[in-house]
Amino acid sequence: MEYMRGDCRASIGVFDSGVGGLTVAREIMRNLPKEHIVYFGDTARVPYGSKSKDTIVRYSQQIIHFLRTQEVKAIVIACNTASALALDEVEKELDIPIIGVIRPGARVAVTSTSNRRIGVIGTESTINSHMYKKLIYEQDPSITVYEKACPLFCPLVEEGWLKDPVTKEVARRYLDELLNKDIDSLILGCTHYPLLRSLIRELVGDSITLVNPAYETAKELGELLEREGLANPDMPEEPLTAEPYRFFVSDMADKFGSFANSILPYDIETIQKINIEEY
Ligand code: DGL
Repeated sequence: MEYMRGDCRASIGVFDSGVGGLTVAREIMRNLPKEHIVYFGDTARVPYGSKSKDTIVRYSQQIIHFLRTQEVKAIVIACNTASALALDEVEKELDIPIIGVIRPGARVAVTSTSNRRIGVIGTESTINSHMYKKLIYEQDPSITVYEKACPLFCPLVEEGWLKDPVTKEVARRYLDELLNKDIDSLILGCTHYPLLRSLIRELVGDSITLVNPAYETAKELGELLEREGLANPDMPEEPLTAEPYRFFVSDMADKFGSFANSILPYDIETIQKINIEEY
């Protein structure tokens, strides 16, 4: 059954190529504790960051069809790559609100820079789309944006090497180029990168603002729900327990669960595996 517009007690649909979007879900849980979430991680088809626009649009359409069967009232694309490549396409077909992570991230970066020099790191597909650059220029064409794809970061994060010397060396190689450009703000333009925040902070020092689009996305989602009259008025009895949140994946539910339990503020009990190709 599809959600009928207007039910503010329906859930928010949140999706990503896998575990990375949990950093966005985590911010929604923290900032909007009254909201219920249906999360889908496309663990069978991850990574998205090296795939084409056509493929990412098709995957996103299938996931949205699935989320609609869960009667969601709004959708968050908690994946930078899918936000960059598919949001414009899928939003045309939808009659419920949908937001991605790139516009909120670009917006806050514009307000955080003083010297008008912003760095963006992300997957190859996100960087090649130049979506952050485009949205920043739209707001302020005097800003210079320096982009750098960091494809090795995602596997290192998934390996749990968040503070490992190997990860630090990889980060140094990627970031040196941007640091030489005298940036004062750096957008963590991939859902995995907030998990490398302290390692990146050590390398870039205190003078560069690290922009986490996940936080801004949760804030914008809250504003959107209020504006549309869709904010849930009821507080769940125990905020931040597993109950208001449901998790679905396309493969490897156990692995997803271990990762999720290491970054979410509670332990997930059930994760359902579905065949996303059926949608
Ligand atoms: N979630 C993706 C993103 O934010 C990173 C992982 C992937 O490549 O699928 O771009």
